Amino acid sequence: MSLTKKIAVLPGDGVGPEVINPAIRVLDAVAQKYGYHFEFKFGSIGADAIEKFGTPLTDATLADCINSDAVLLGAVGHPKYDKDPTLPVRPEMGLLKIRKELGLFASIRPVITYSSLYHLSPVKSNLLEHVDIVIFRELTGGIYFGEKKHDAEFESASDQSIYTAKEITAIARVAFEYAAKRKRKITLVDKANILETSRLWRKVVTALAASYPSAELNFMYADNAAMQLIVNPAQFDVILTDNLFGDILSDEASVLSGSLGLLPSASIGTGPALFEPIHGAYSQTAGRDTANPIGTILAVAMMMEYFEFIEAAADIREAVQWAIQNSFVSKDLDPVNFYFTSTIGELICDYITGKTDHAVNKGNIQIRKSTII
Ligand code: IPM
Ligand code: MG
Repeated sequence: MSLTKKIAVLPGDGVGPEVINPAIRVLDAVAQKYGYHFEFKFGSIGADAIEKFGTPLTDATLADCINSDAVLLGAVGHPKYDKDPTLPVRPEMGLLKIRKELGLFASIRPVITYSSLYHLSPVKSNLLEHVDIVIFRELTGGIYFGEKKHDAEFESASDQSIYTAKEITAIARVAFEYAAKRKRKITLVDKANILETSRLWRKVVTALAASYPSAELNFMYADNAAMQLIVNPAQFDVILTDNLFGDILSDEASVLSGSLGLLPSASIGTGPALFEPIHGAYSQTAGRDTANPIGTILAVAMMMEYFEFIEAAADIREAVQWAIQNSFVSKDLDPVNFYFTSTIGELICDYITGKTDHAVNKGNIQIRKSTII
């Protein structure tokens, strides 16, 4: 196993760069500890790339990603484009392009809860115990990539949703294999009462389930799943779903953990995989060093697992647990006594490299807390 890995880094827009910085420091920390060698190649994506090159993802950046072992991405999106839906070139196109070009058909989005953050979830604490869900979201098909049309006056519009059995099989296989290492329960979320594509999903996934006899497959309509995630989230193990439902349900599920800022994702396909937090650019707070770096740092842990750098992944996860348990958290989790994005990154790195007493000396760390309040 090679200890050298090429990582394409695309900080992107909004809070993207400020969550990528601590993630790079964490990569440096595990590299130092375990003798890995990470070669970073930085590139632009999203509104940042539109500003610089007139396109949300240049061919050169895409080539760097294709030639890497993994891609680390911050966020894309800018309010300027949200305000004008008619703009033909949009930051999100960069993300969709990279997903499509790298063939990243499966987005893996784990959701866990932390007892010290139960109070931040709008869901009652007793429902948050034992929540451990992984959403498998199909990422390169469906309504995201179907033909988009509108008439000359923009008075009518349509988005087509197409799935093939091949596409469904590809993601379903990943989900079944992953479920085998967990509680083996897979819930296919769809709208098979309404949508033809959903009926195809049910047919294909049911047939595939025969190859995974130990898996327990069940079906749930997306509207019910949205409700069940709030009223009884612990019932889920692996959720398998299409691109749009997966997008919506993963944001919804994030409130179980306490903040959208805590959730990482790994998007895998045929070539290099891509790792990113699931939160967006959140431009209104960009540049203040207040974003939550944990989603991105946990995305790095997923990257380490992908490289089979298991010790590094375990170290990162332990450091994150430690930071959260000891309330070294960002403003979204504690609007009064919060720590800055960069400080949380430093604390996590110090924990990993052993510079921090693992039994925590909060008195010393206190000094690095926010002084805004
Ligand atoms: C996500 C994001 C993206 C999506 C946006 C930024 C294009 O919301 O990764 O969930 O809709 O897929
Ligand atoms: Mg989303």
